[in-house]
Amino acid sequence: MELTGKHLVVGMTGGIAAYKTCELVRRLQDEGATVQVVMTAAAQQFVTATAMQALSGRPVATEQWDHAAADNGMPHIALTRAADAIVVAPATAHFIARVAHGLADDLLTTLALARNRSRTTLLIAPAMNVEMWENPATQRNVAQLRADGVALLGPAQGDQACGETGYGRMLEPGELVEDIVAFFQPKPLAGKRLLLTAGPTFEPIDPVRGITNLSSGKTGFALARAARDAGAEVTLVAGPTSLATPRGVKRVDVTTASEMHDAVMRALPVDVFVAVAAVADWRVANPSDRKIKKNAKATPPTLRFEPNADILATVAALPTPPFCVGFAAESEDVVENARRKLASKKVPLVVANRAQDAFGADGAELFLVEAAGVTPLPHAGKLAQARRLVAEIAARIARR
Ligand code: CTP
Repeated sequence: MELTGKHLVVGMTGGIAAYKTCELVRRLQDEGATVQVVMTAAAQQFVTATAMQALSGRPVATEQWDHAAADNGMPHIALTRAADAIVVAPATAHFIARVAHGLADDLLTTLALARNRSRTTLLIAPAMNVEMWENPATQRNVAQLRADGVALLGPAQGDQACGETGYGRMLEPGELVEDIVAFFQPKPLAGKRLLLTAGPTFEPIDPVRGITNLSSGKTGFALARAARDAGAEVTLVAGPTSLATPRGVKRVDVTTASEMHDAVMRALPVDVFVAVAAVADWRVANPSDRKIKKNAKATPPTLRFEPNADILATVAALPTPPFCVGFAAESEDVVENARRKLASKKVPLVVANRAQDAFGADGAELFLVEAAGVTPLPHAGKLAQARRLVAEIAARIARR
């Protein structure tokens, strides 16, 4: 529940993407938000106010002159005063043009103009044909909105209802929710570059077999999302995993530890490096370029191993290293083992957890182990832990 306590005005203008707003309203409530829907006359050509009332659990505001919609008879003021944000989805080119010029000729544009700008940000999810989006008039209006402090959510690229392809598609409900949640997060890493490794590595034995481990990548991906939500520019070097890339994160996919090492080195310099990946310490020195066959006598093949570079220790040993954070998944003596890694890798912070929590589980208890002592982060879900950890990292780099 990432939006608990938030009250959102969701504005809908007349676009076919309005059907996605039905699900958006549901998902915002699933995250704990309360939602007041406001619809323009054109929006009601696509979805009815009855449907939106049923979904939001509140009467939908449609009229500037509806005296019942606010106790003081001024819905254009009253509706936004308790709102933490106004989210307009879909936002048509015409709506964007009117807001950019300060017009107030219906309830939604009047709400946008009359909102308290320091308290209630306007977030806009454009939805229109690619030619309309790319038209210089729209681009001028969008630039004006940005300059005025309006946040743009999307648009995305892809197939459009009109049959054309390009920018102008409204983001999907899940993407909008992710961006809205991110909008409300504090930004202690604004202007910082953060690099992470995540997931397992895969060391080939032959073209179809290899050595890997049970790391799911969930912790690293949650941290990438939390860091991005905290304002960082995030690069995520990921071993083989089918997890979806968090929005706004640059992802580099790799397979082996050696590819992970090279991708990390290419992504430097950064302000913070967090090594979450479960990297194979050894690779097969003699991988076969053909599939190894069971021979007649079924003699097992002999594998020789050679060491992989320690990515974290390598980065920490650079002349001007970023703030380096290691992870330690231990089955016993969690803090003691993490202390040893702190020393052997020469990093300022090691995040320790129990191995049984680290692989695939959705939550964990963490211990921040550093020279100064140990800070426990009590058990919580992976995203909640990731947000705490990002705040702890931000506090430490601010002190540097
Ligand atoms: N790490 C790395 N490159 C490697 C190996 C590990 O960057 N080749 C990083 C991991 O991402 C993690 C930390 O180092 O942040 C883990 O340290 P390590 O001592 O390798 O952990 P384990 O492999 O669990 O060590 P051990 O088997 O000794 O417990």
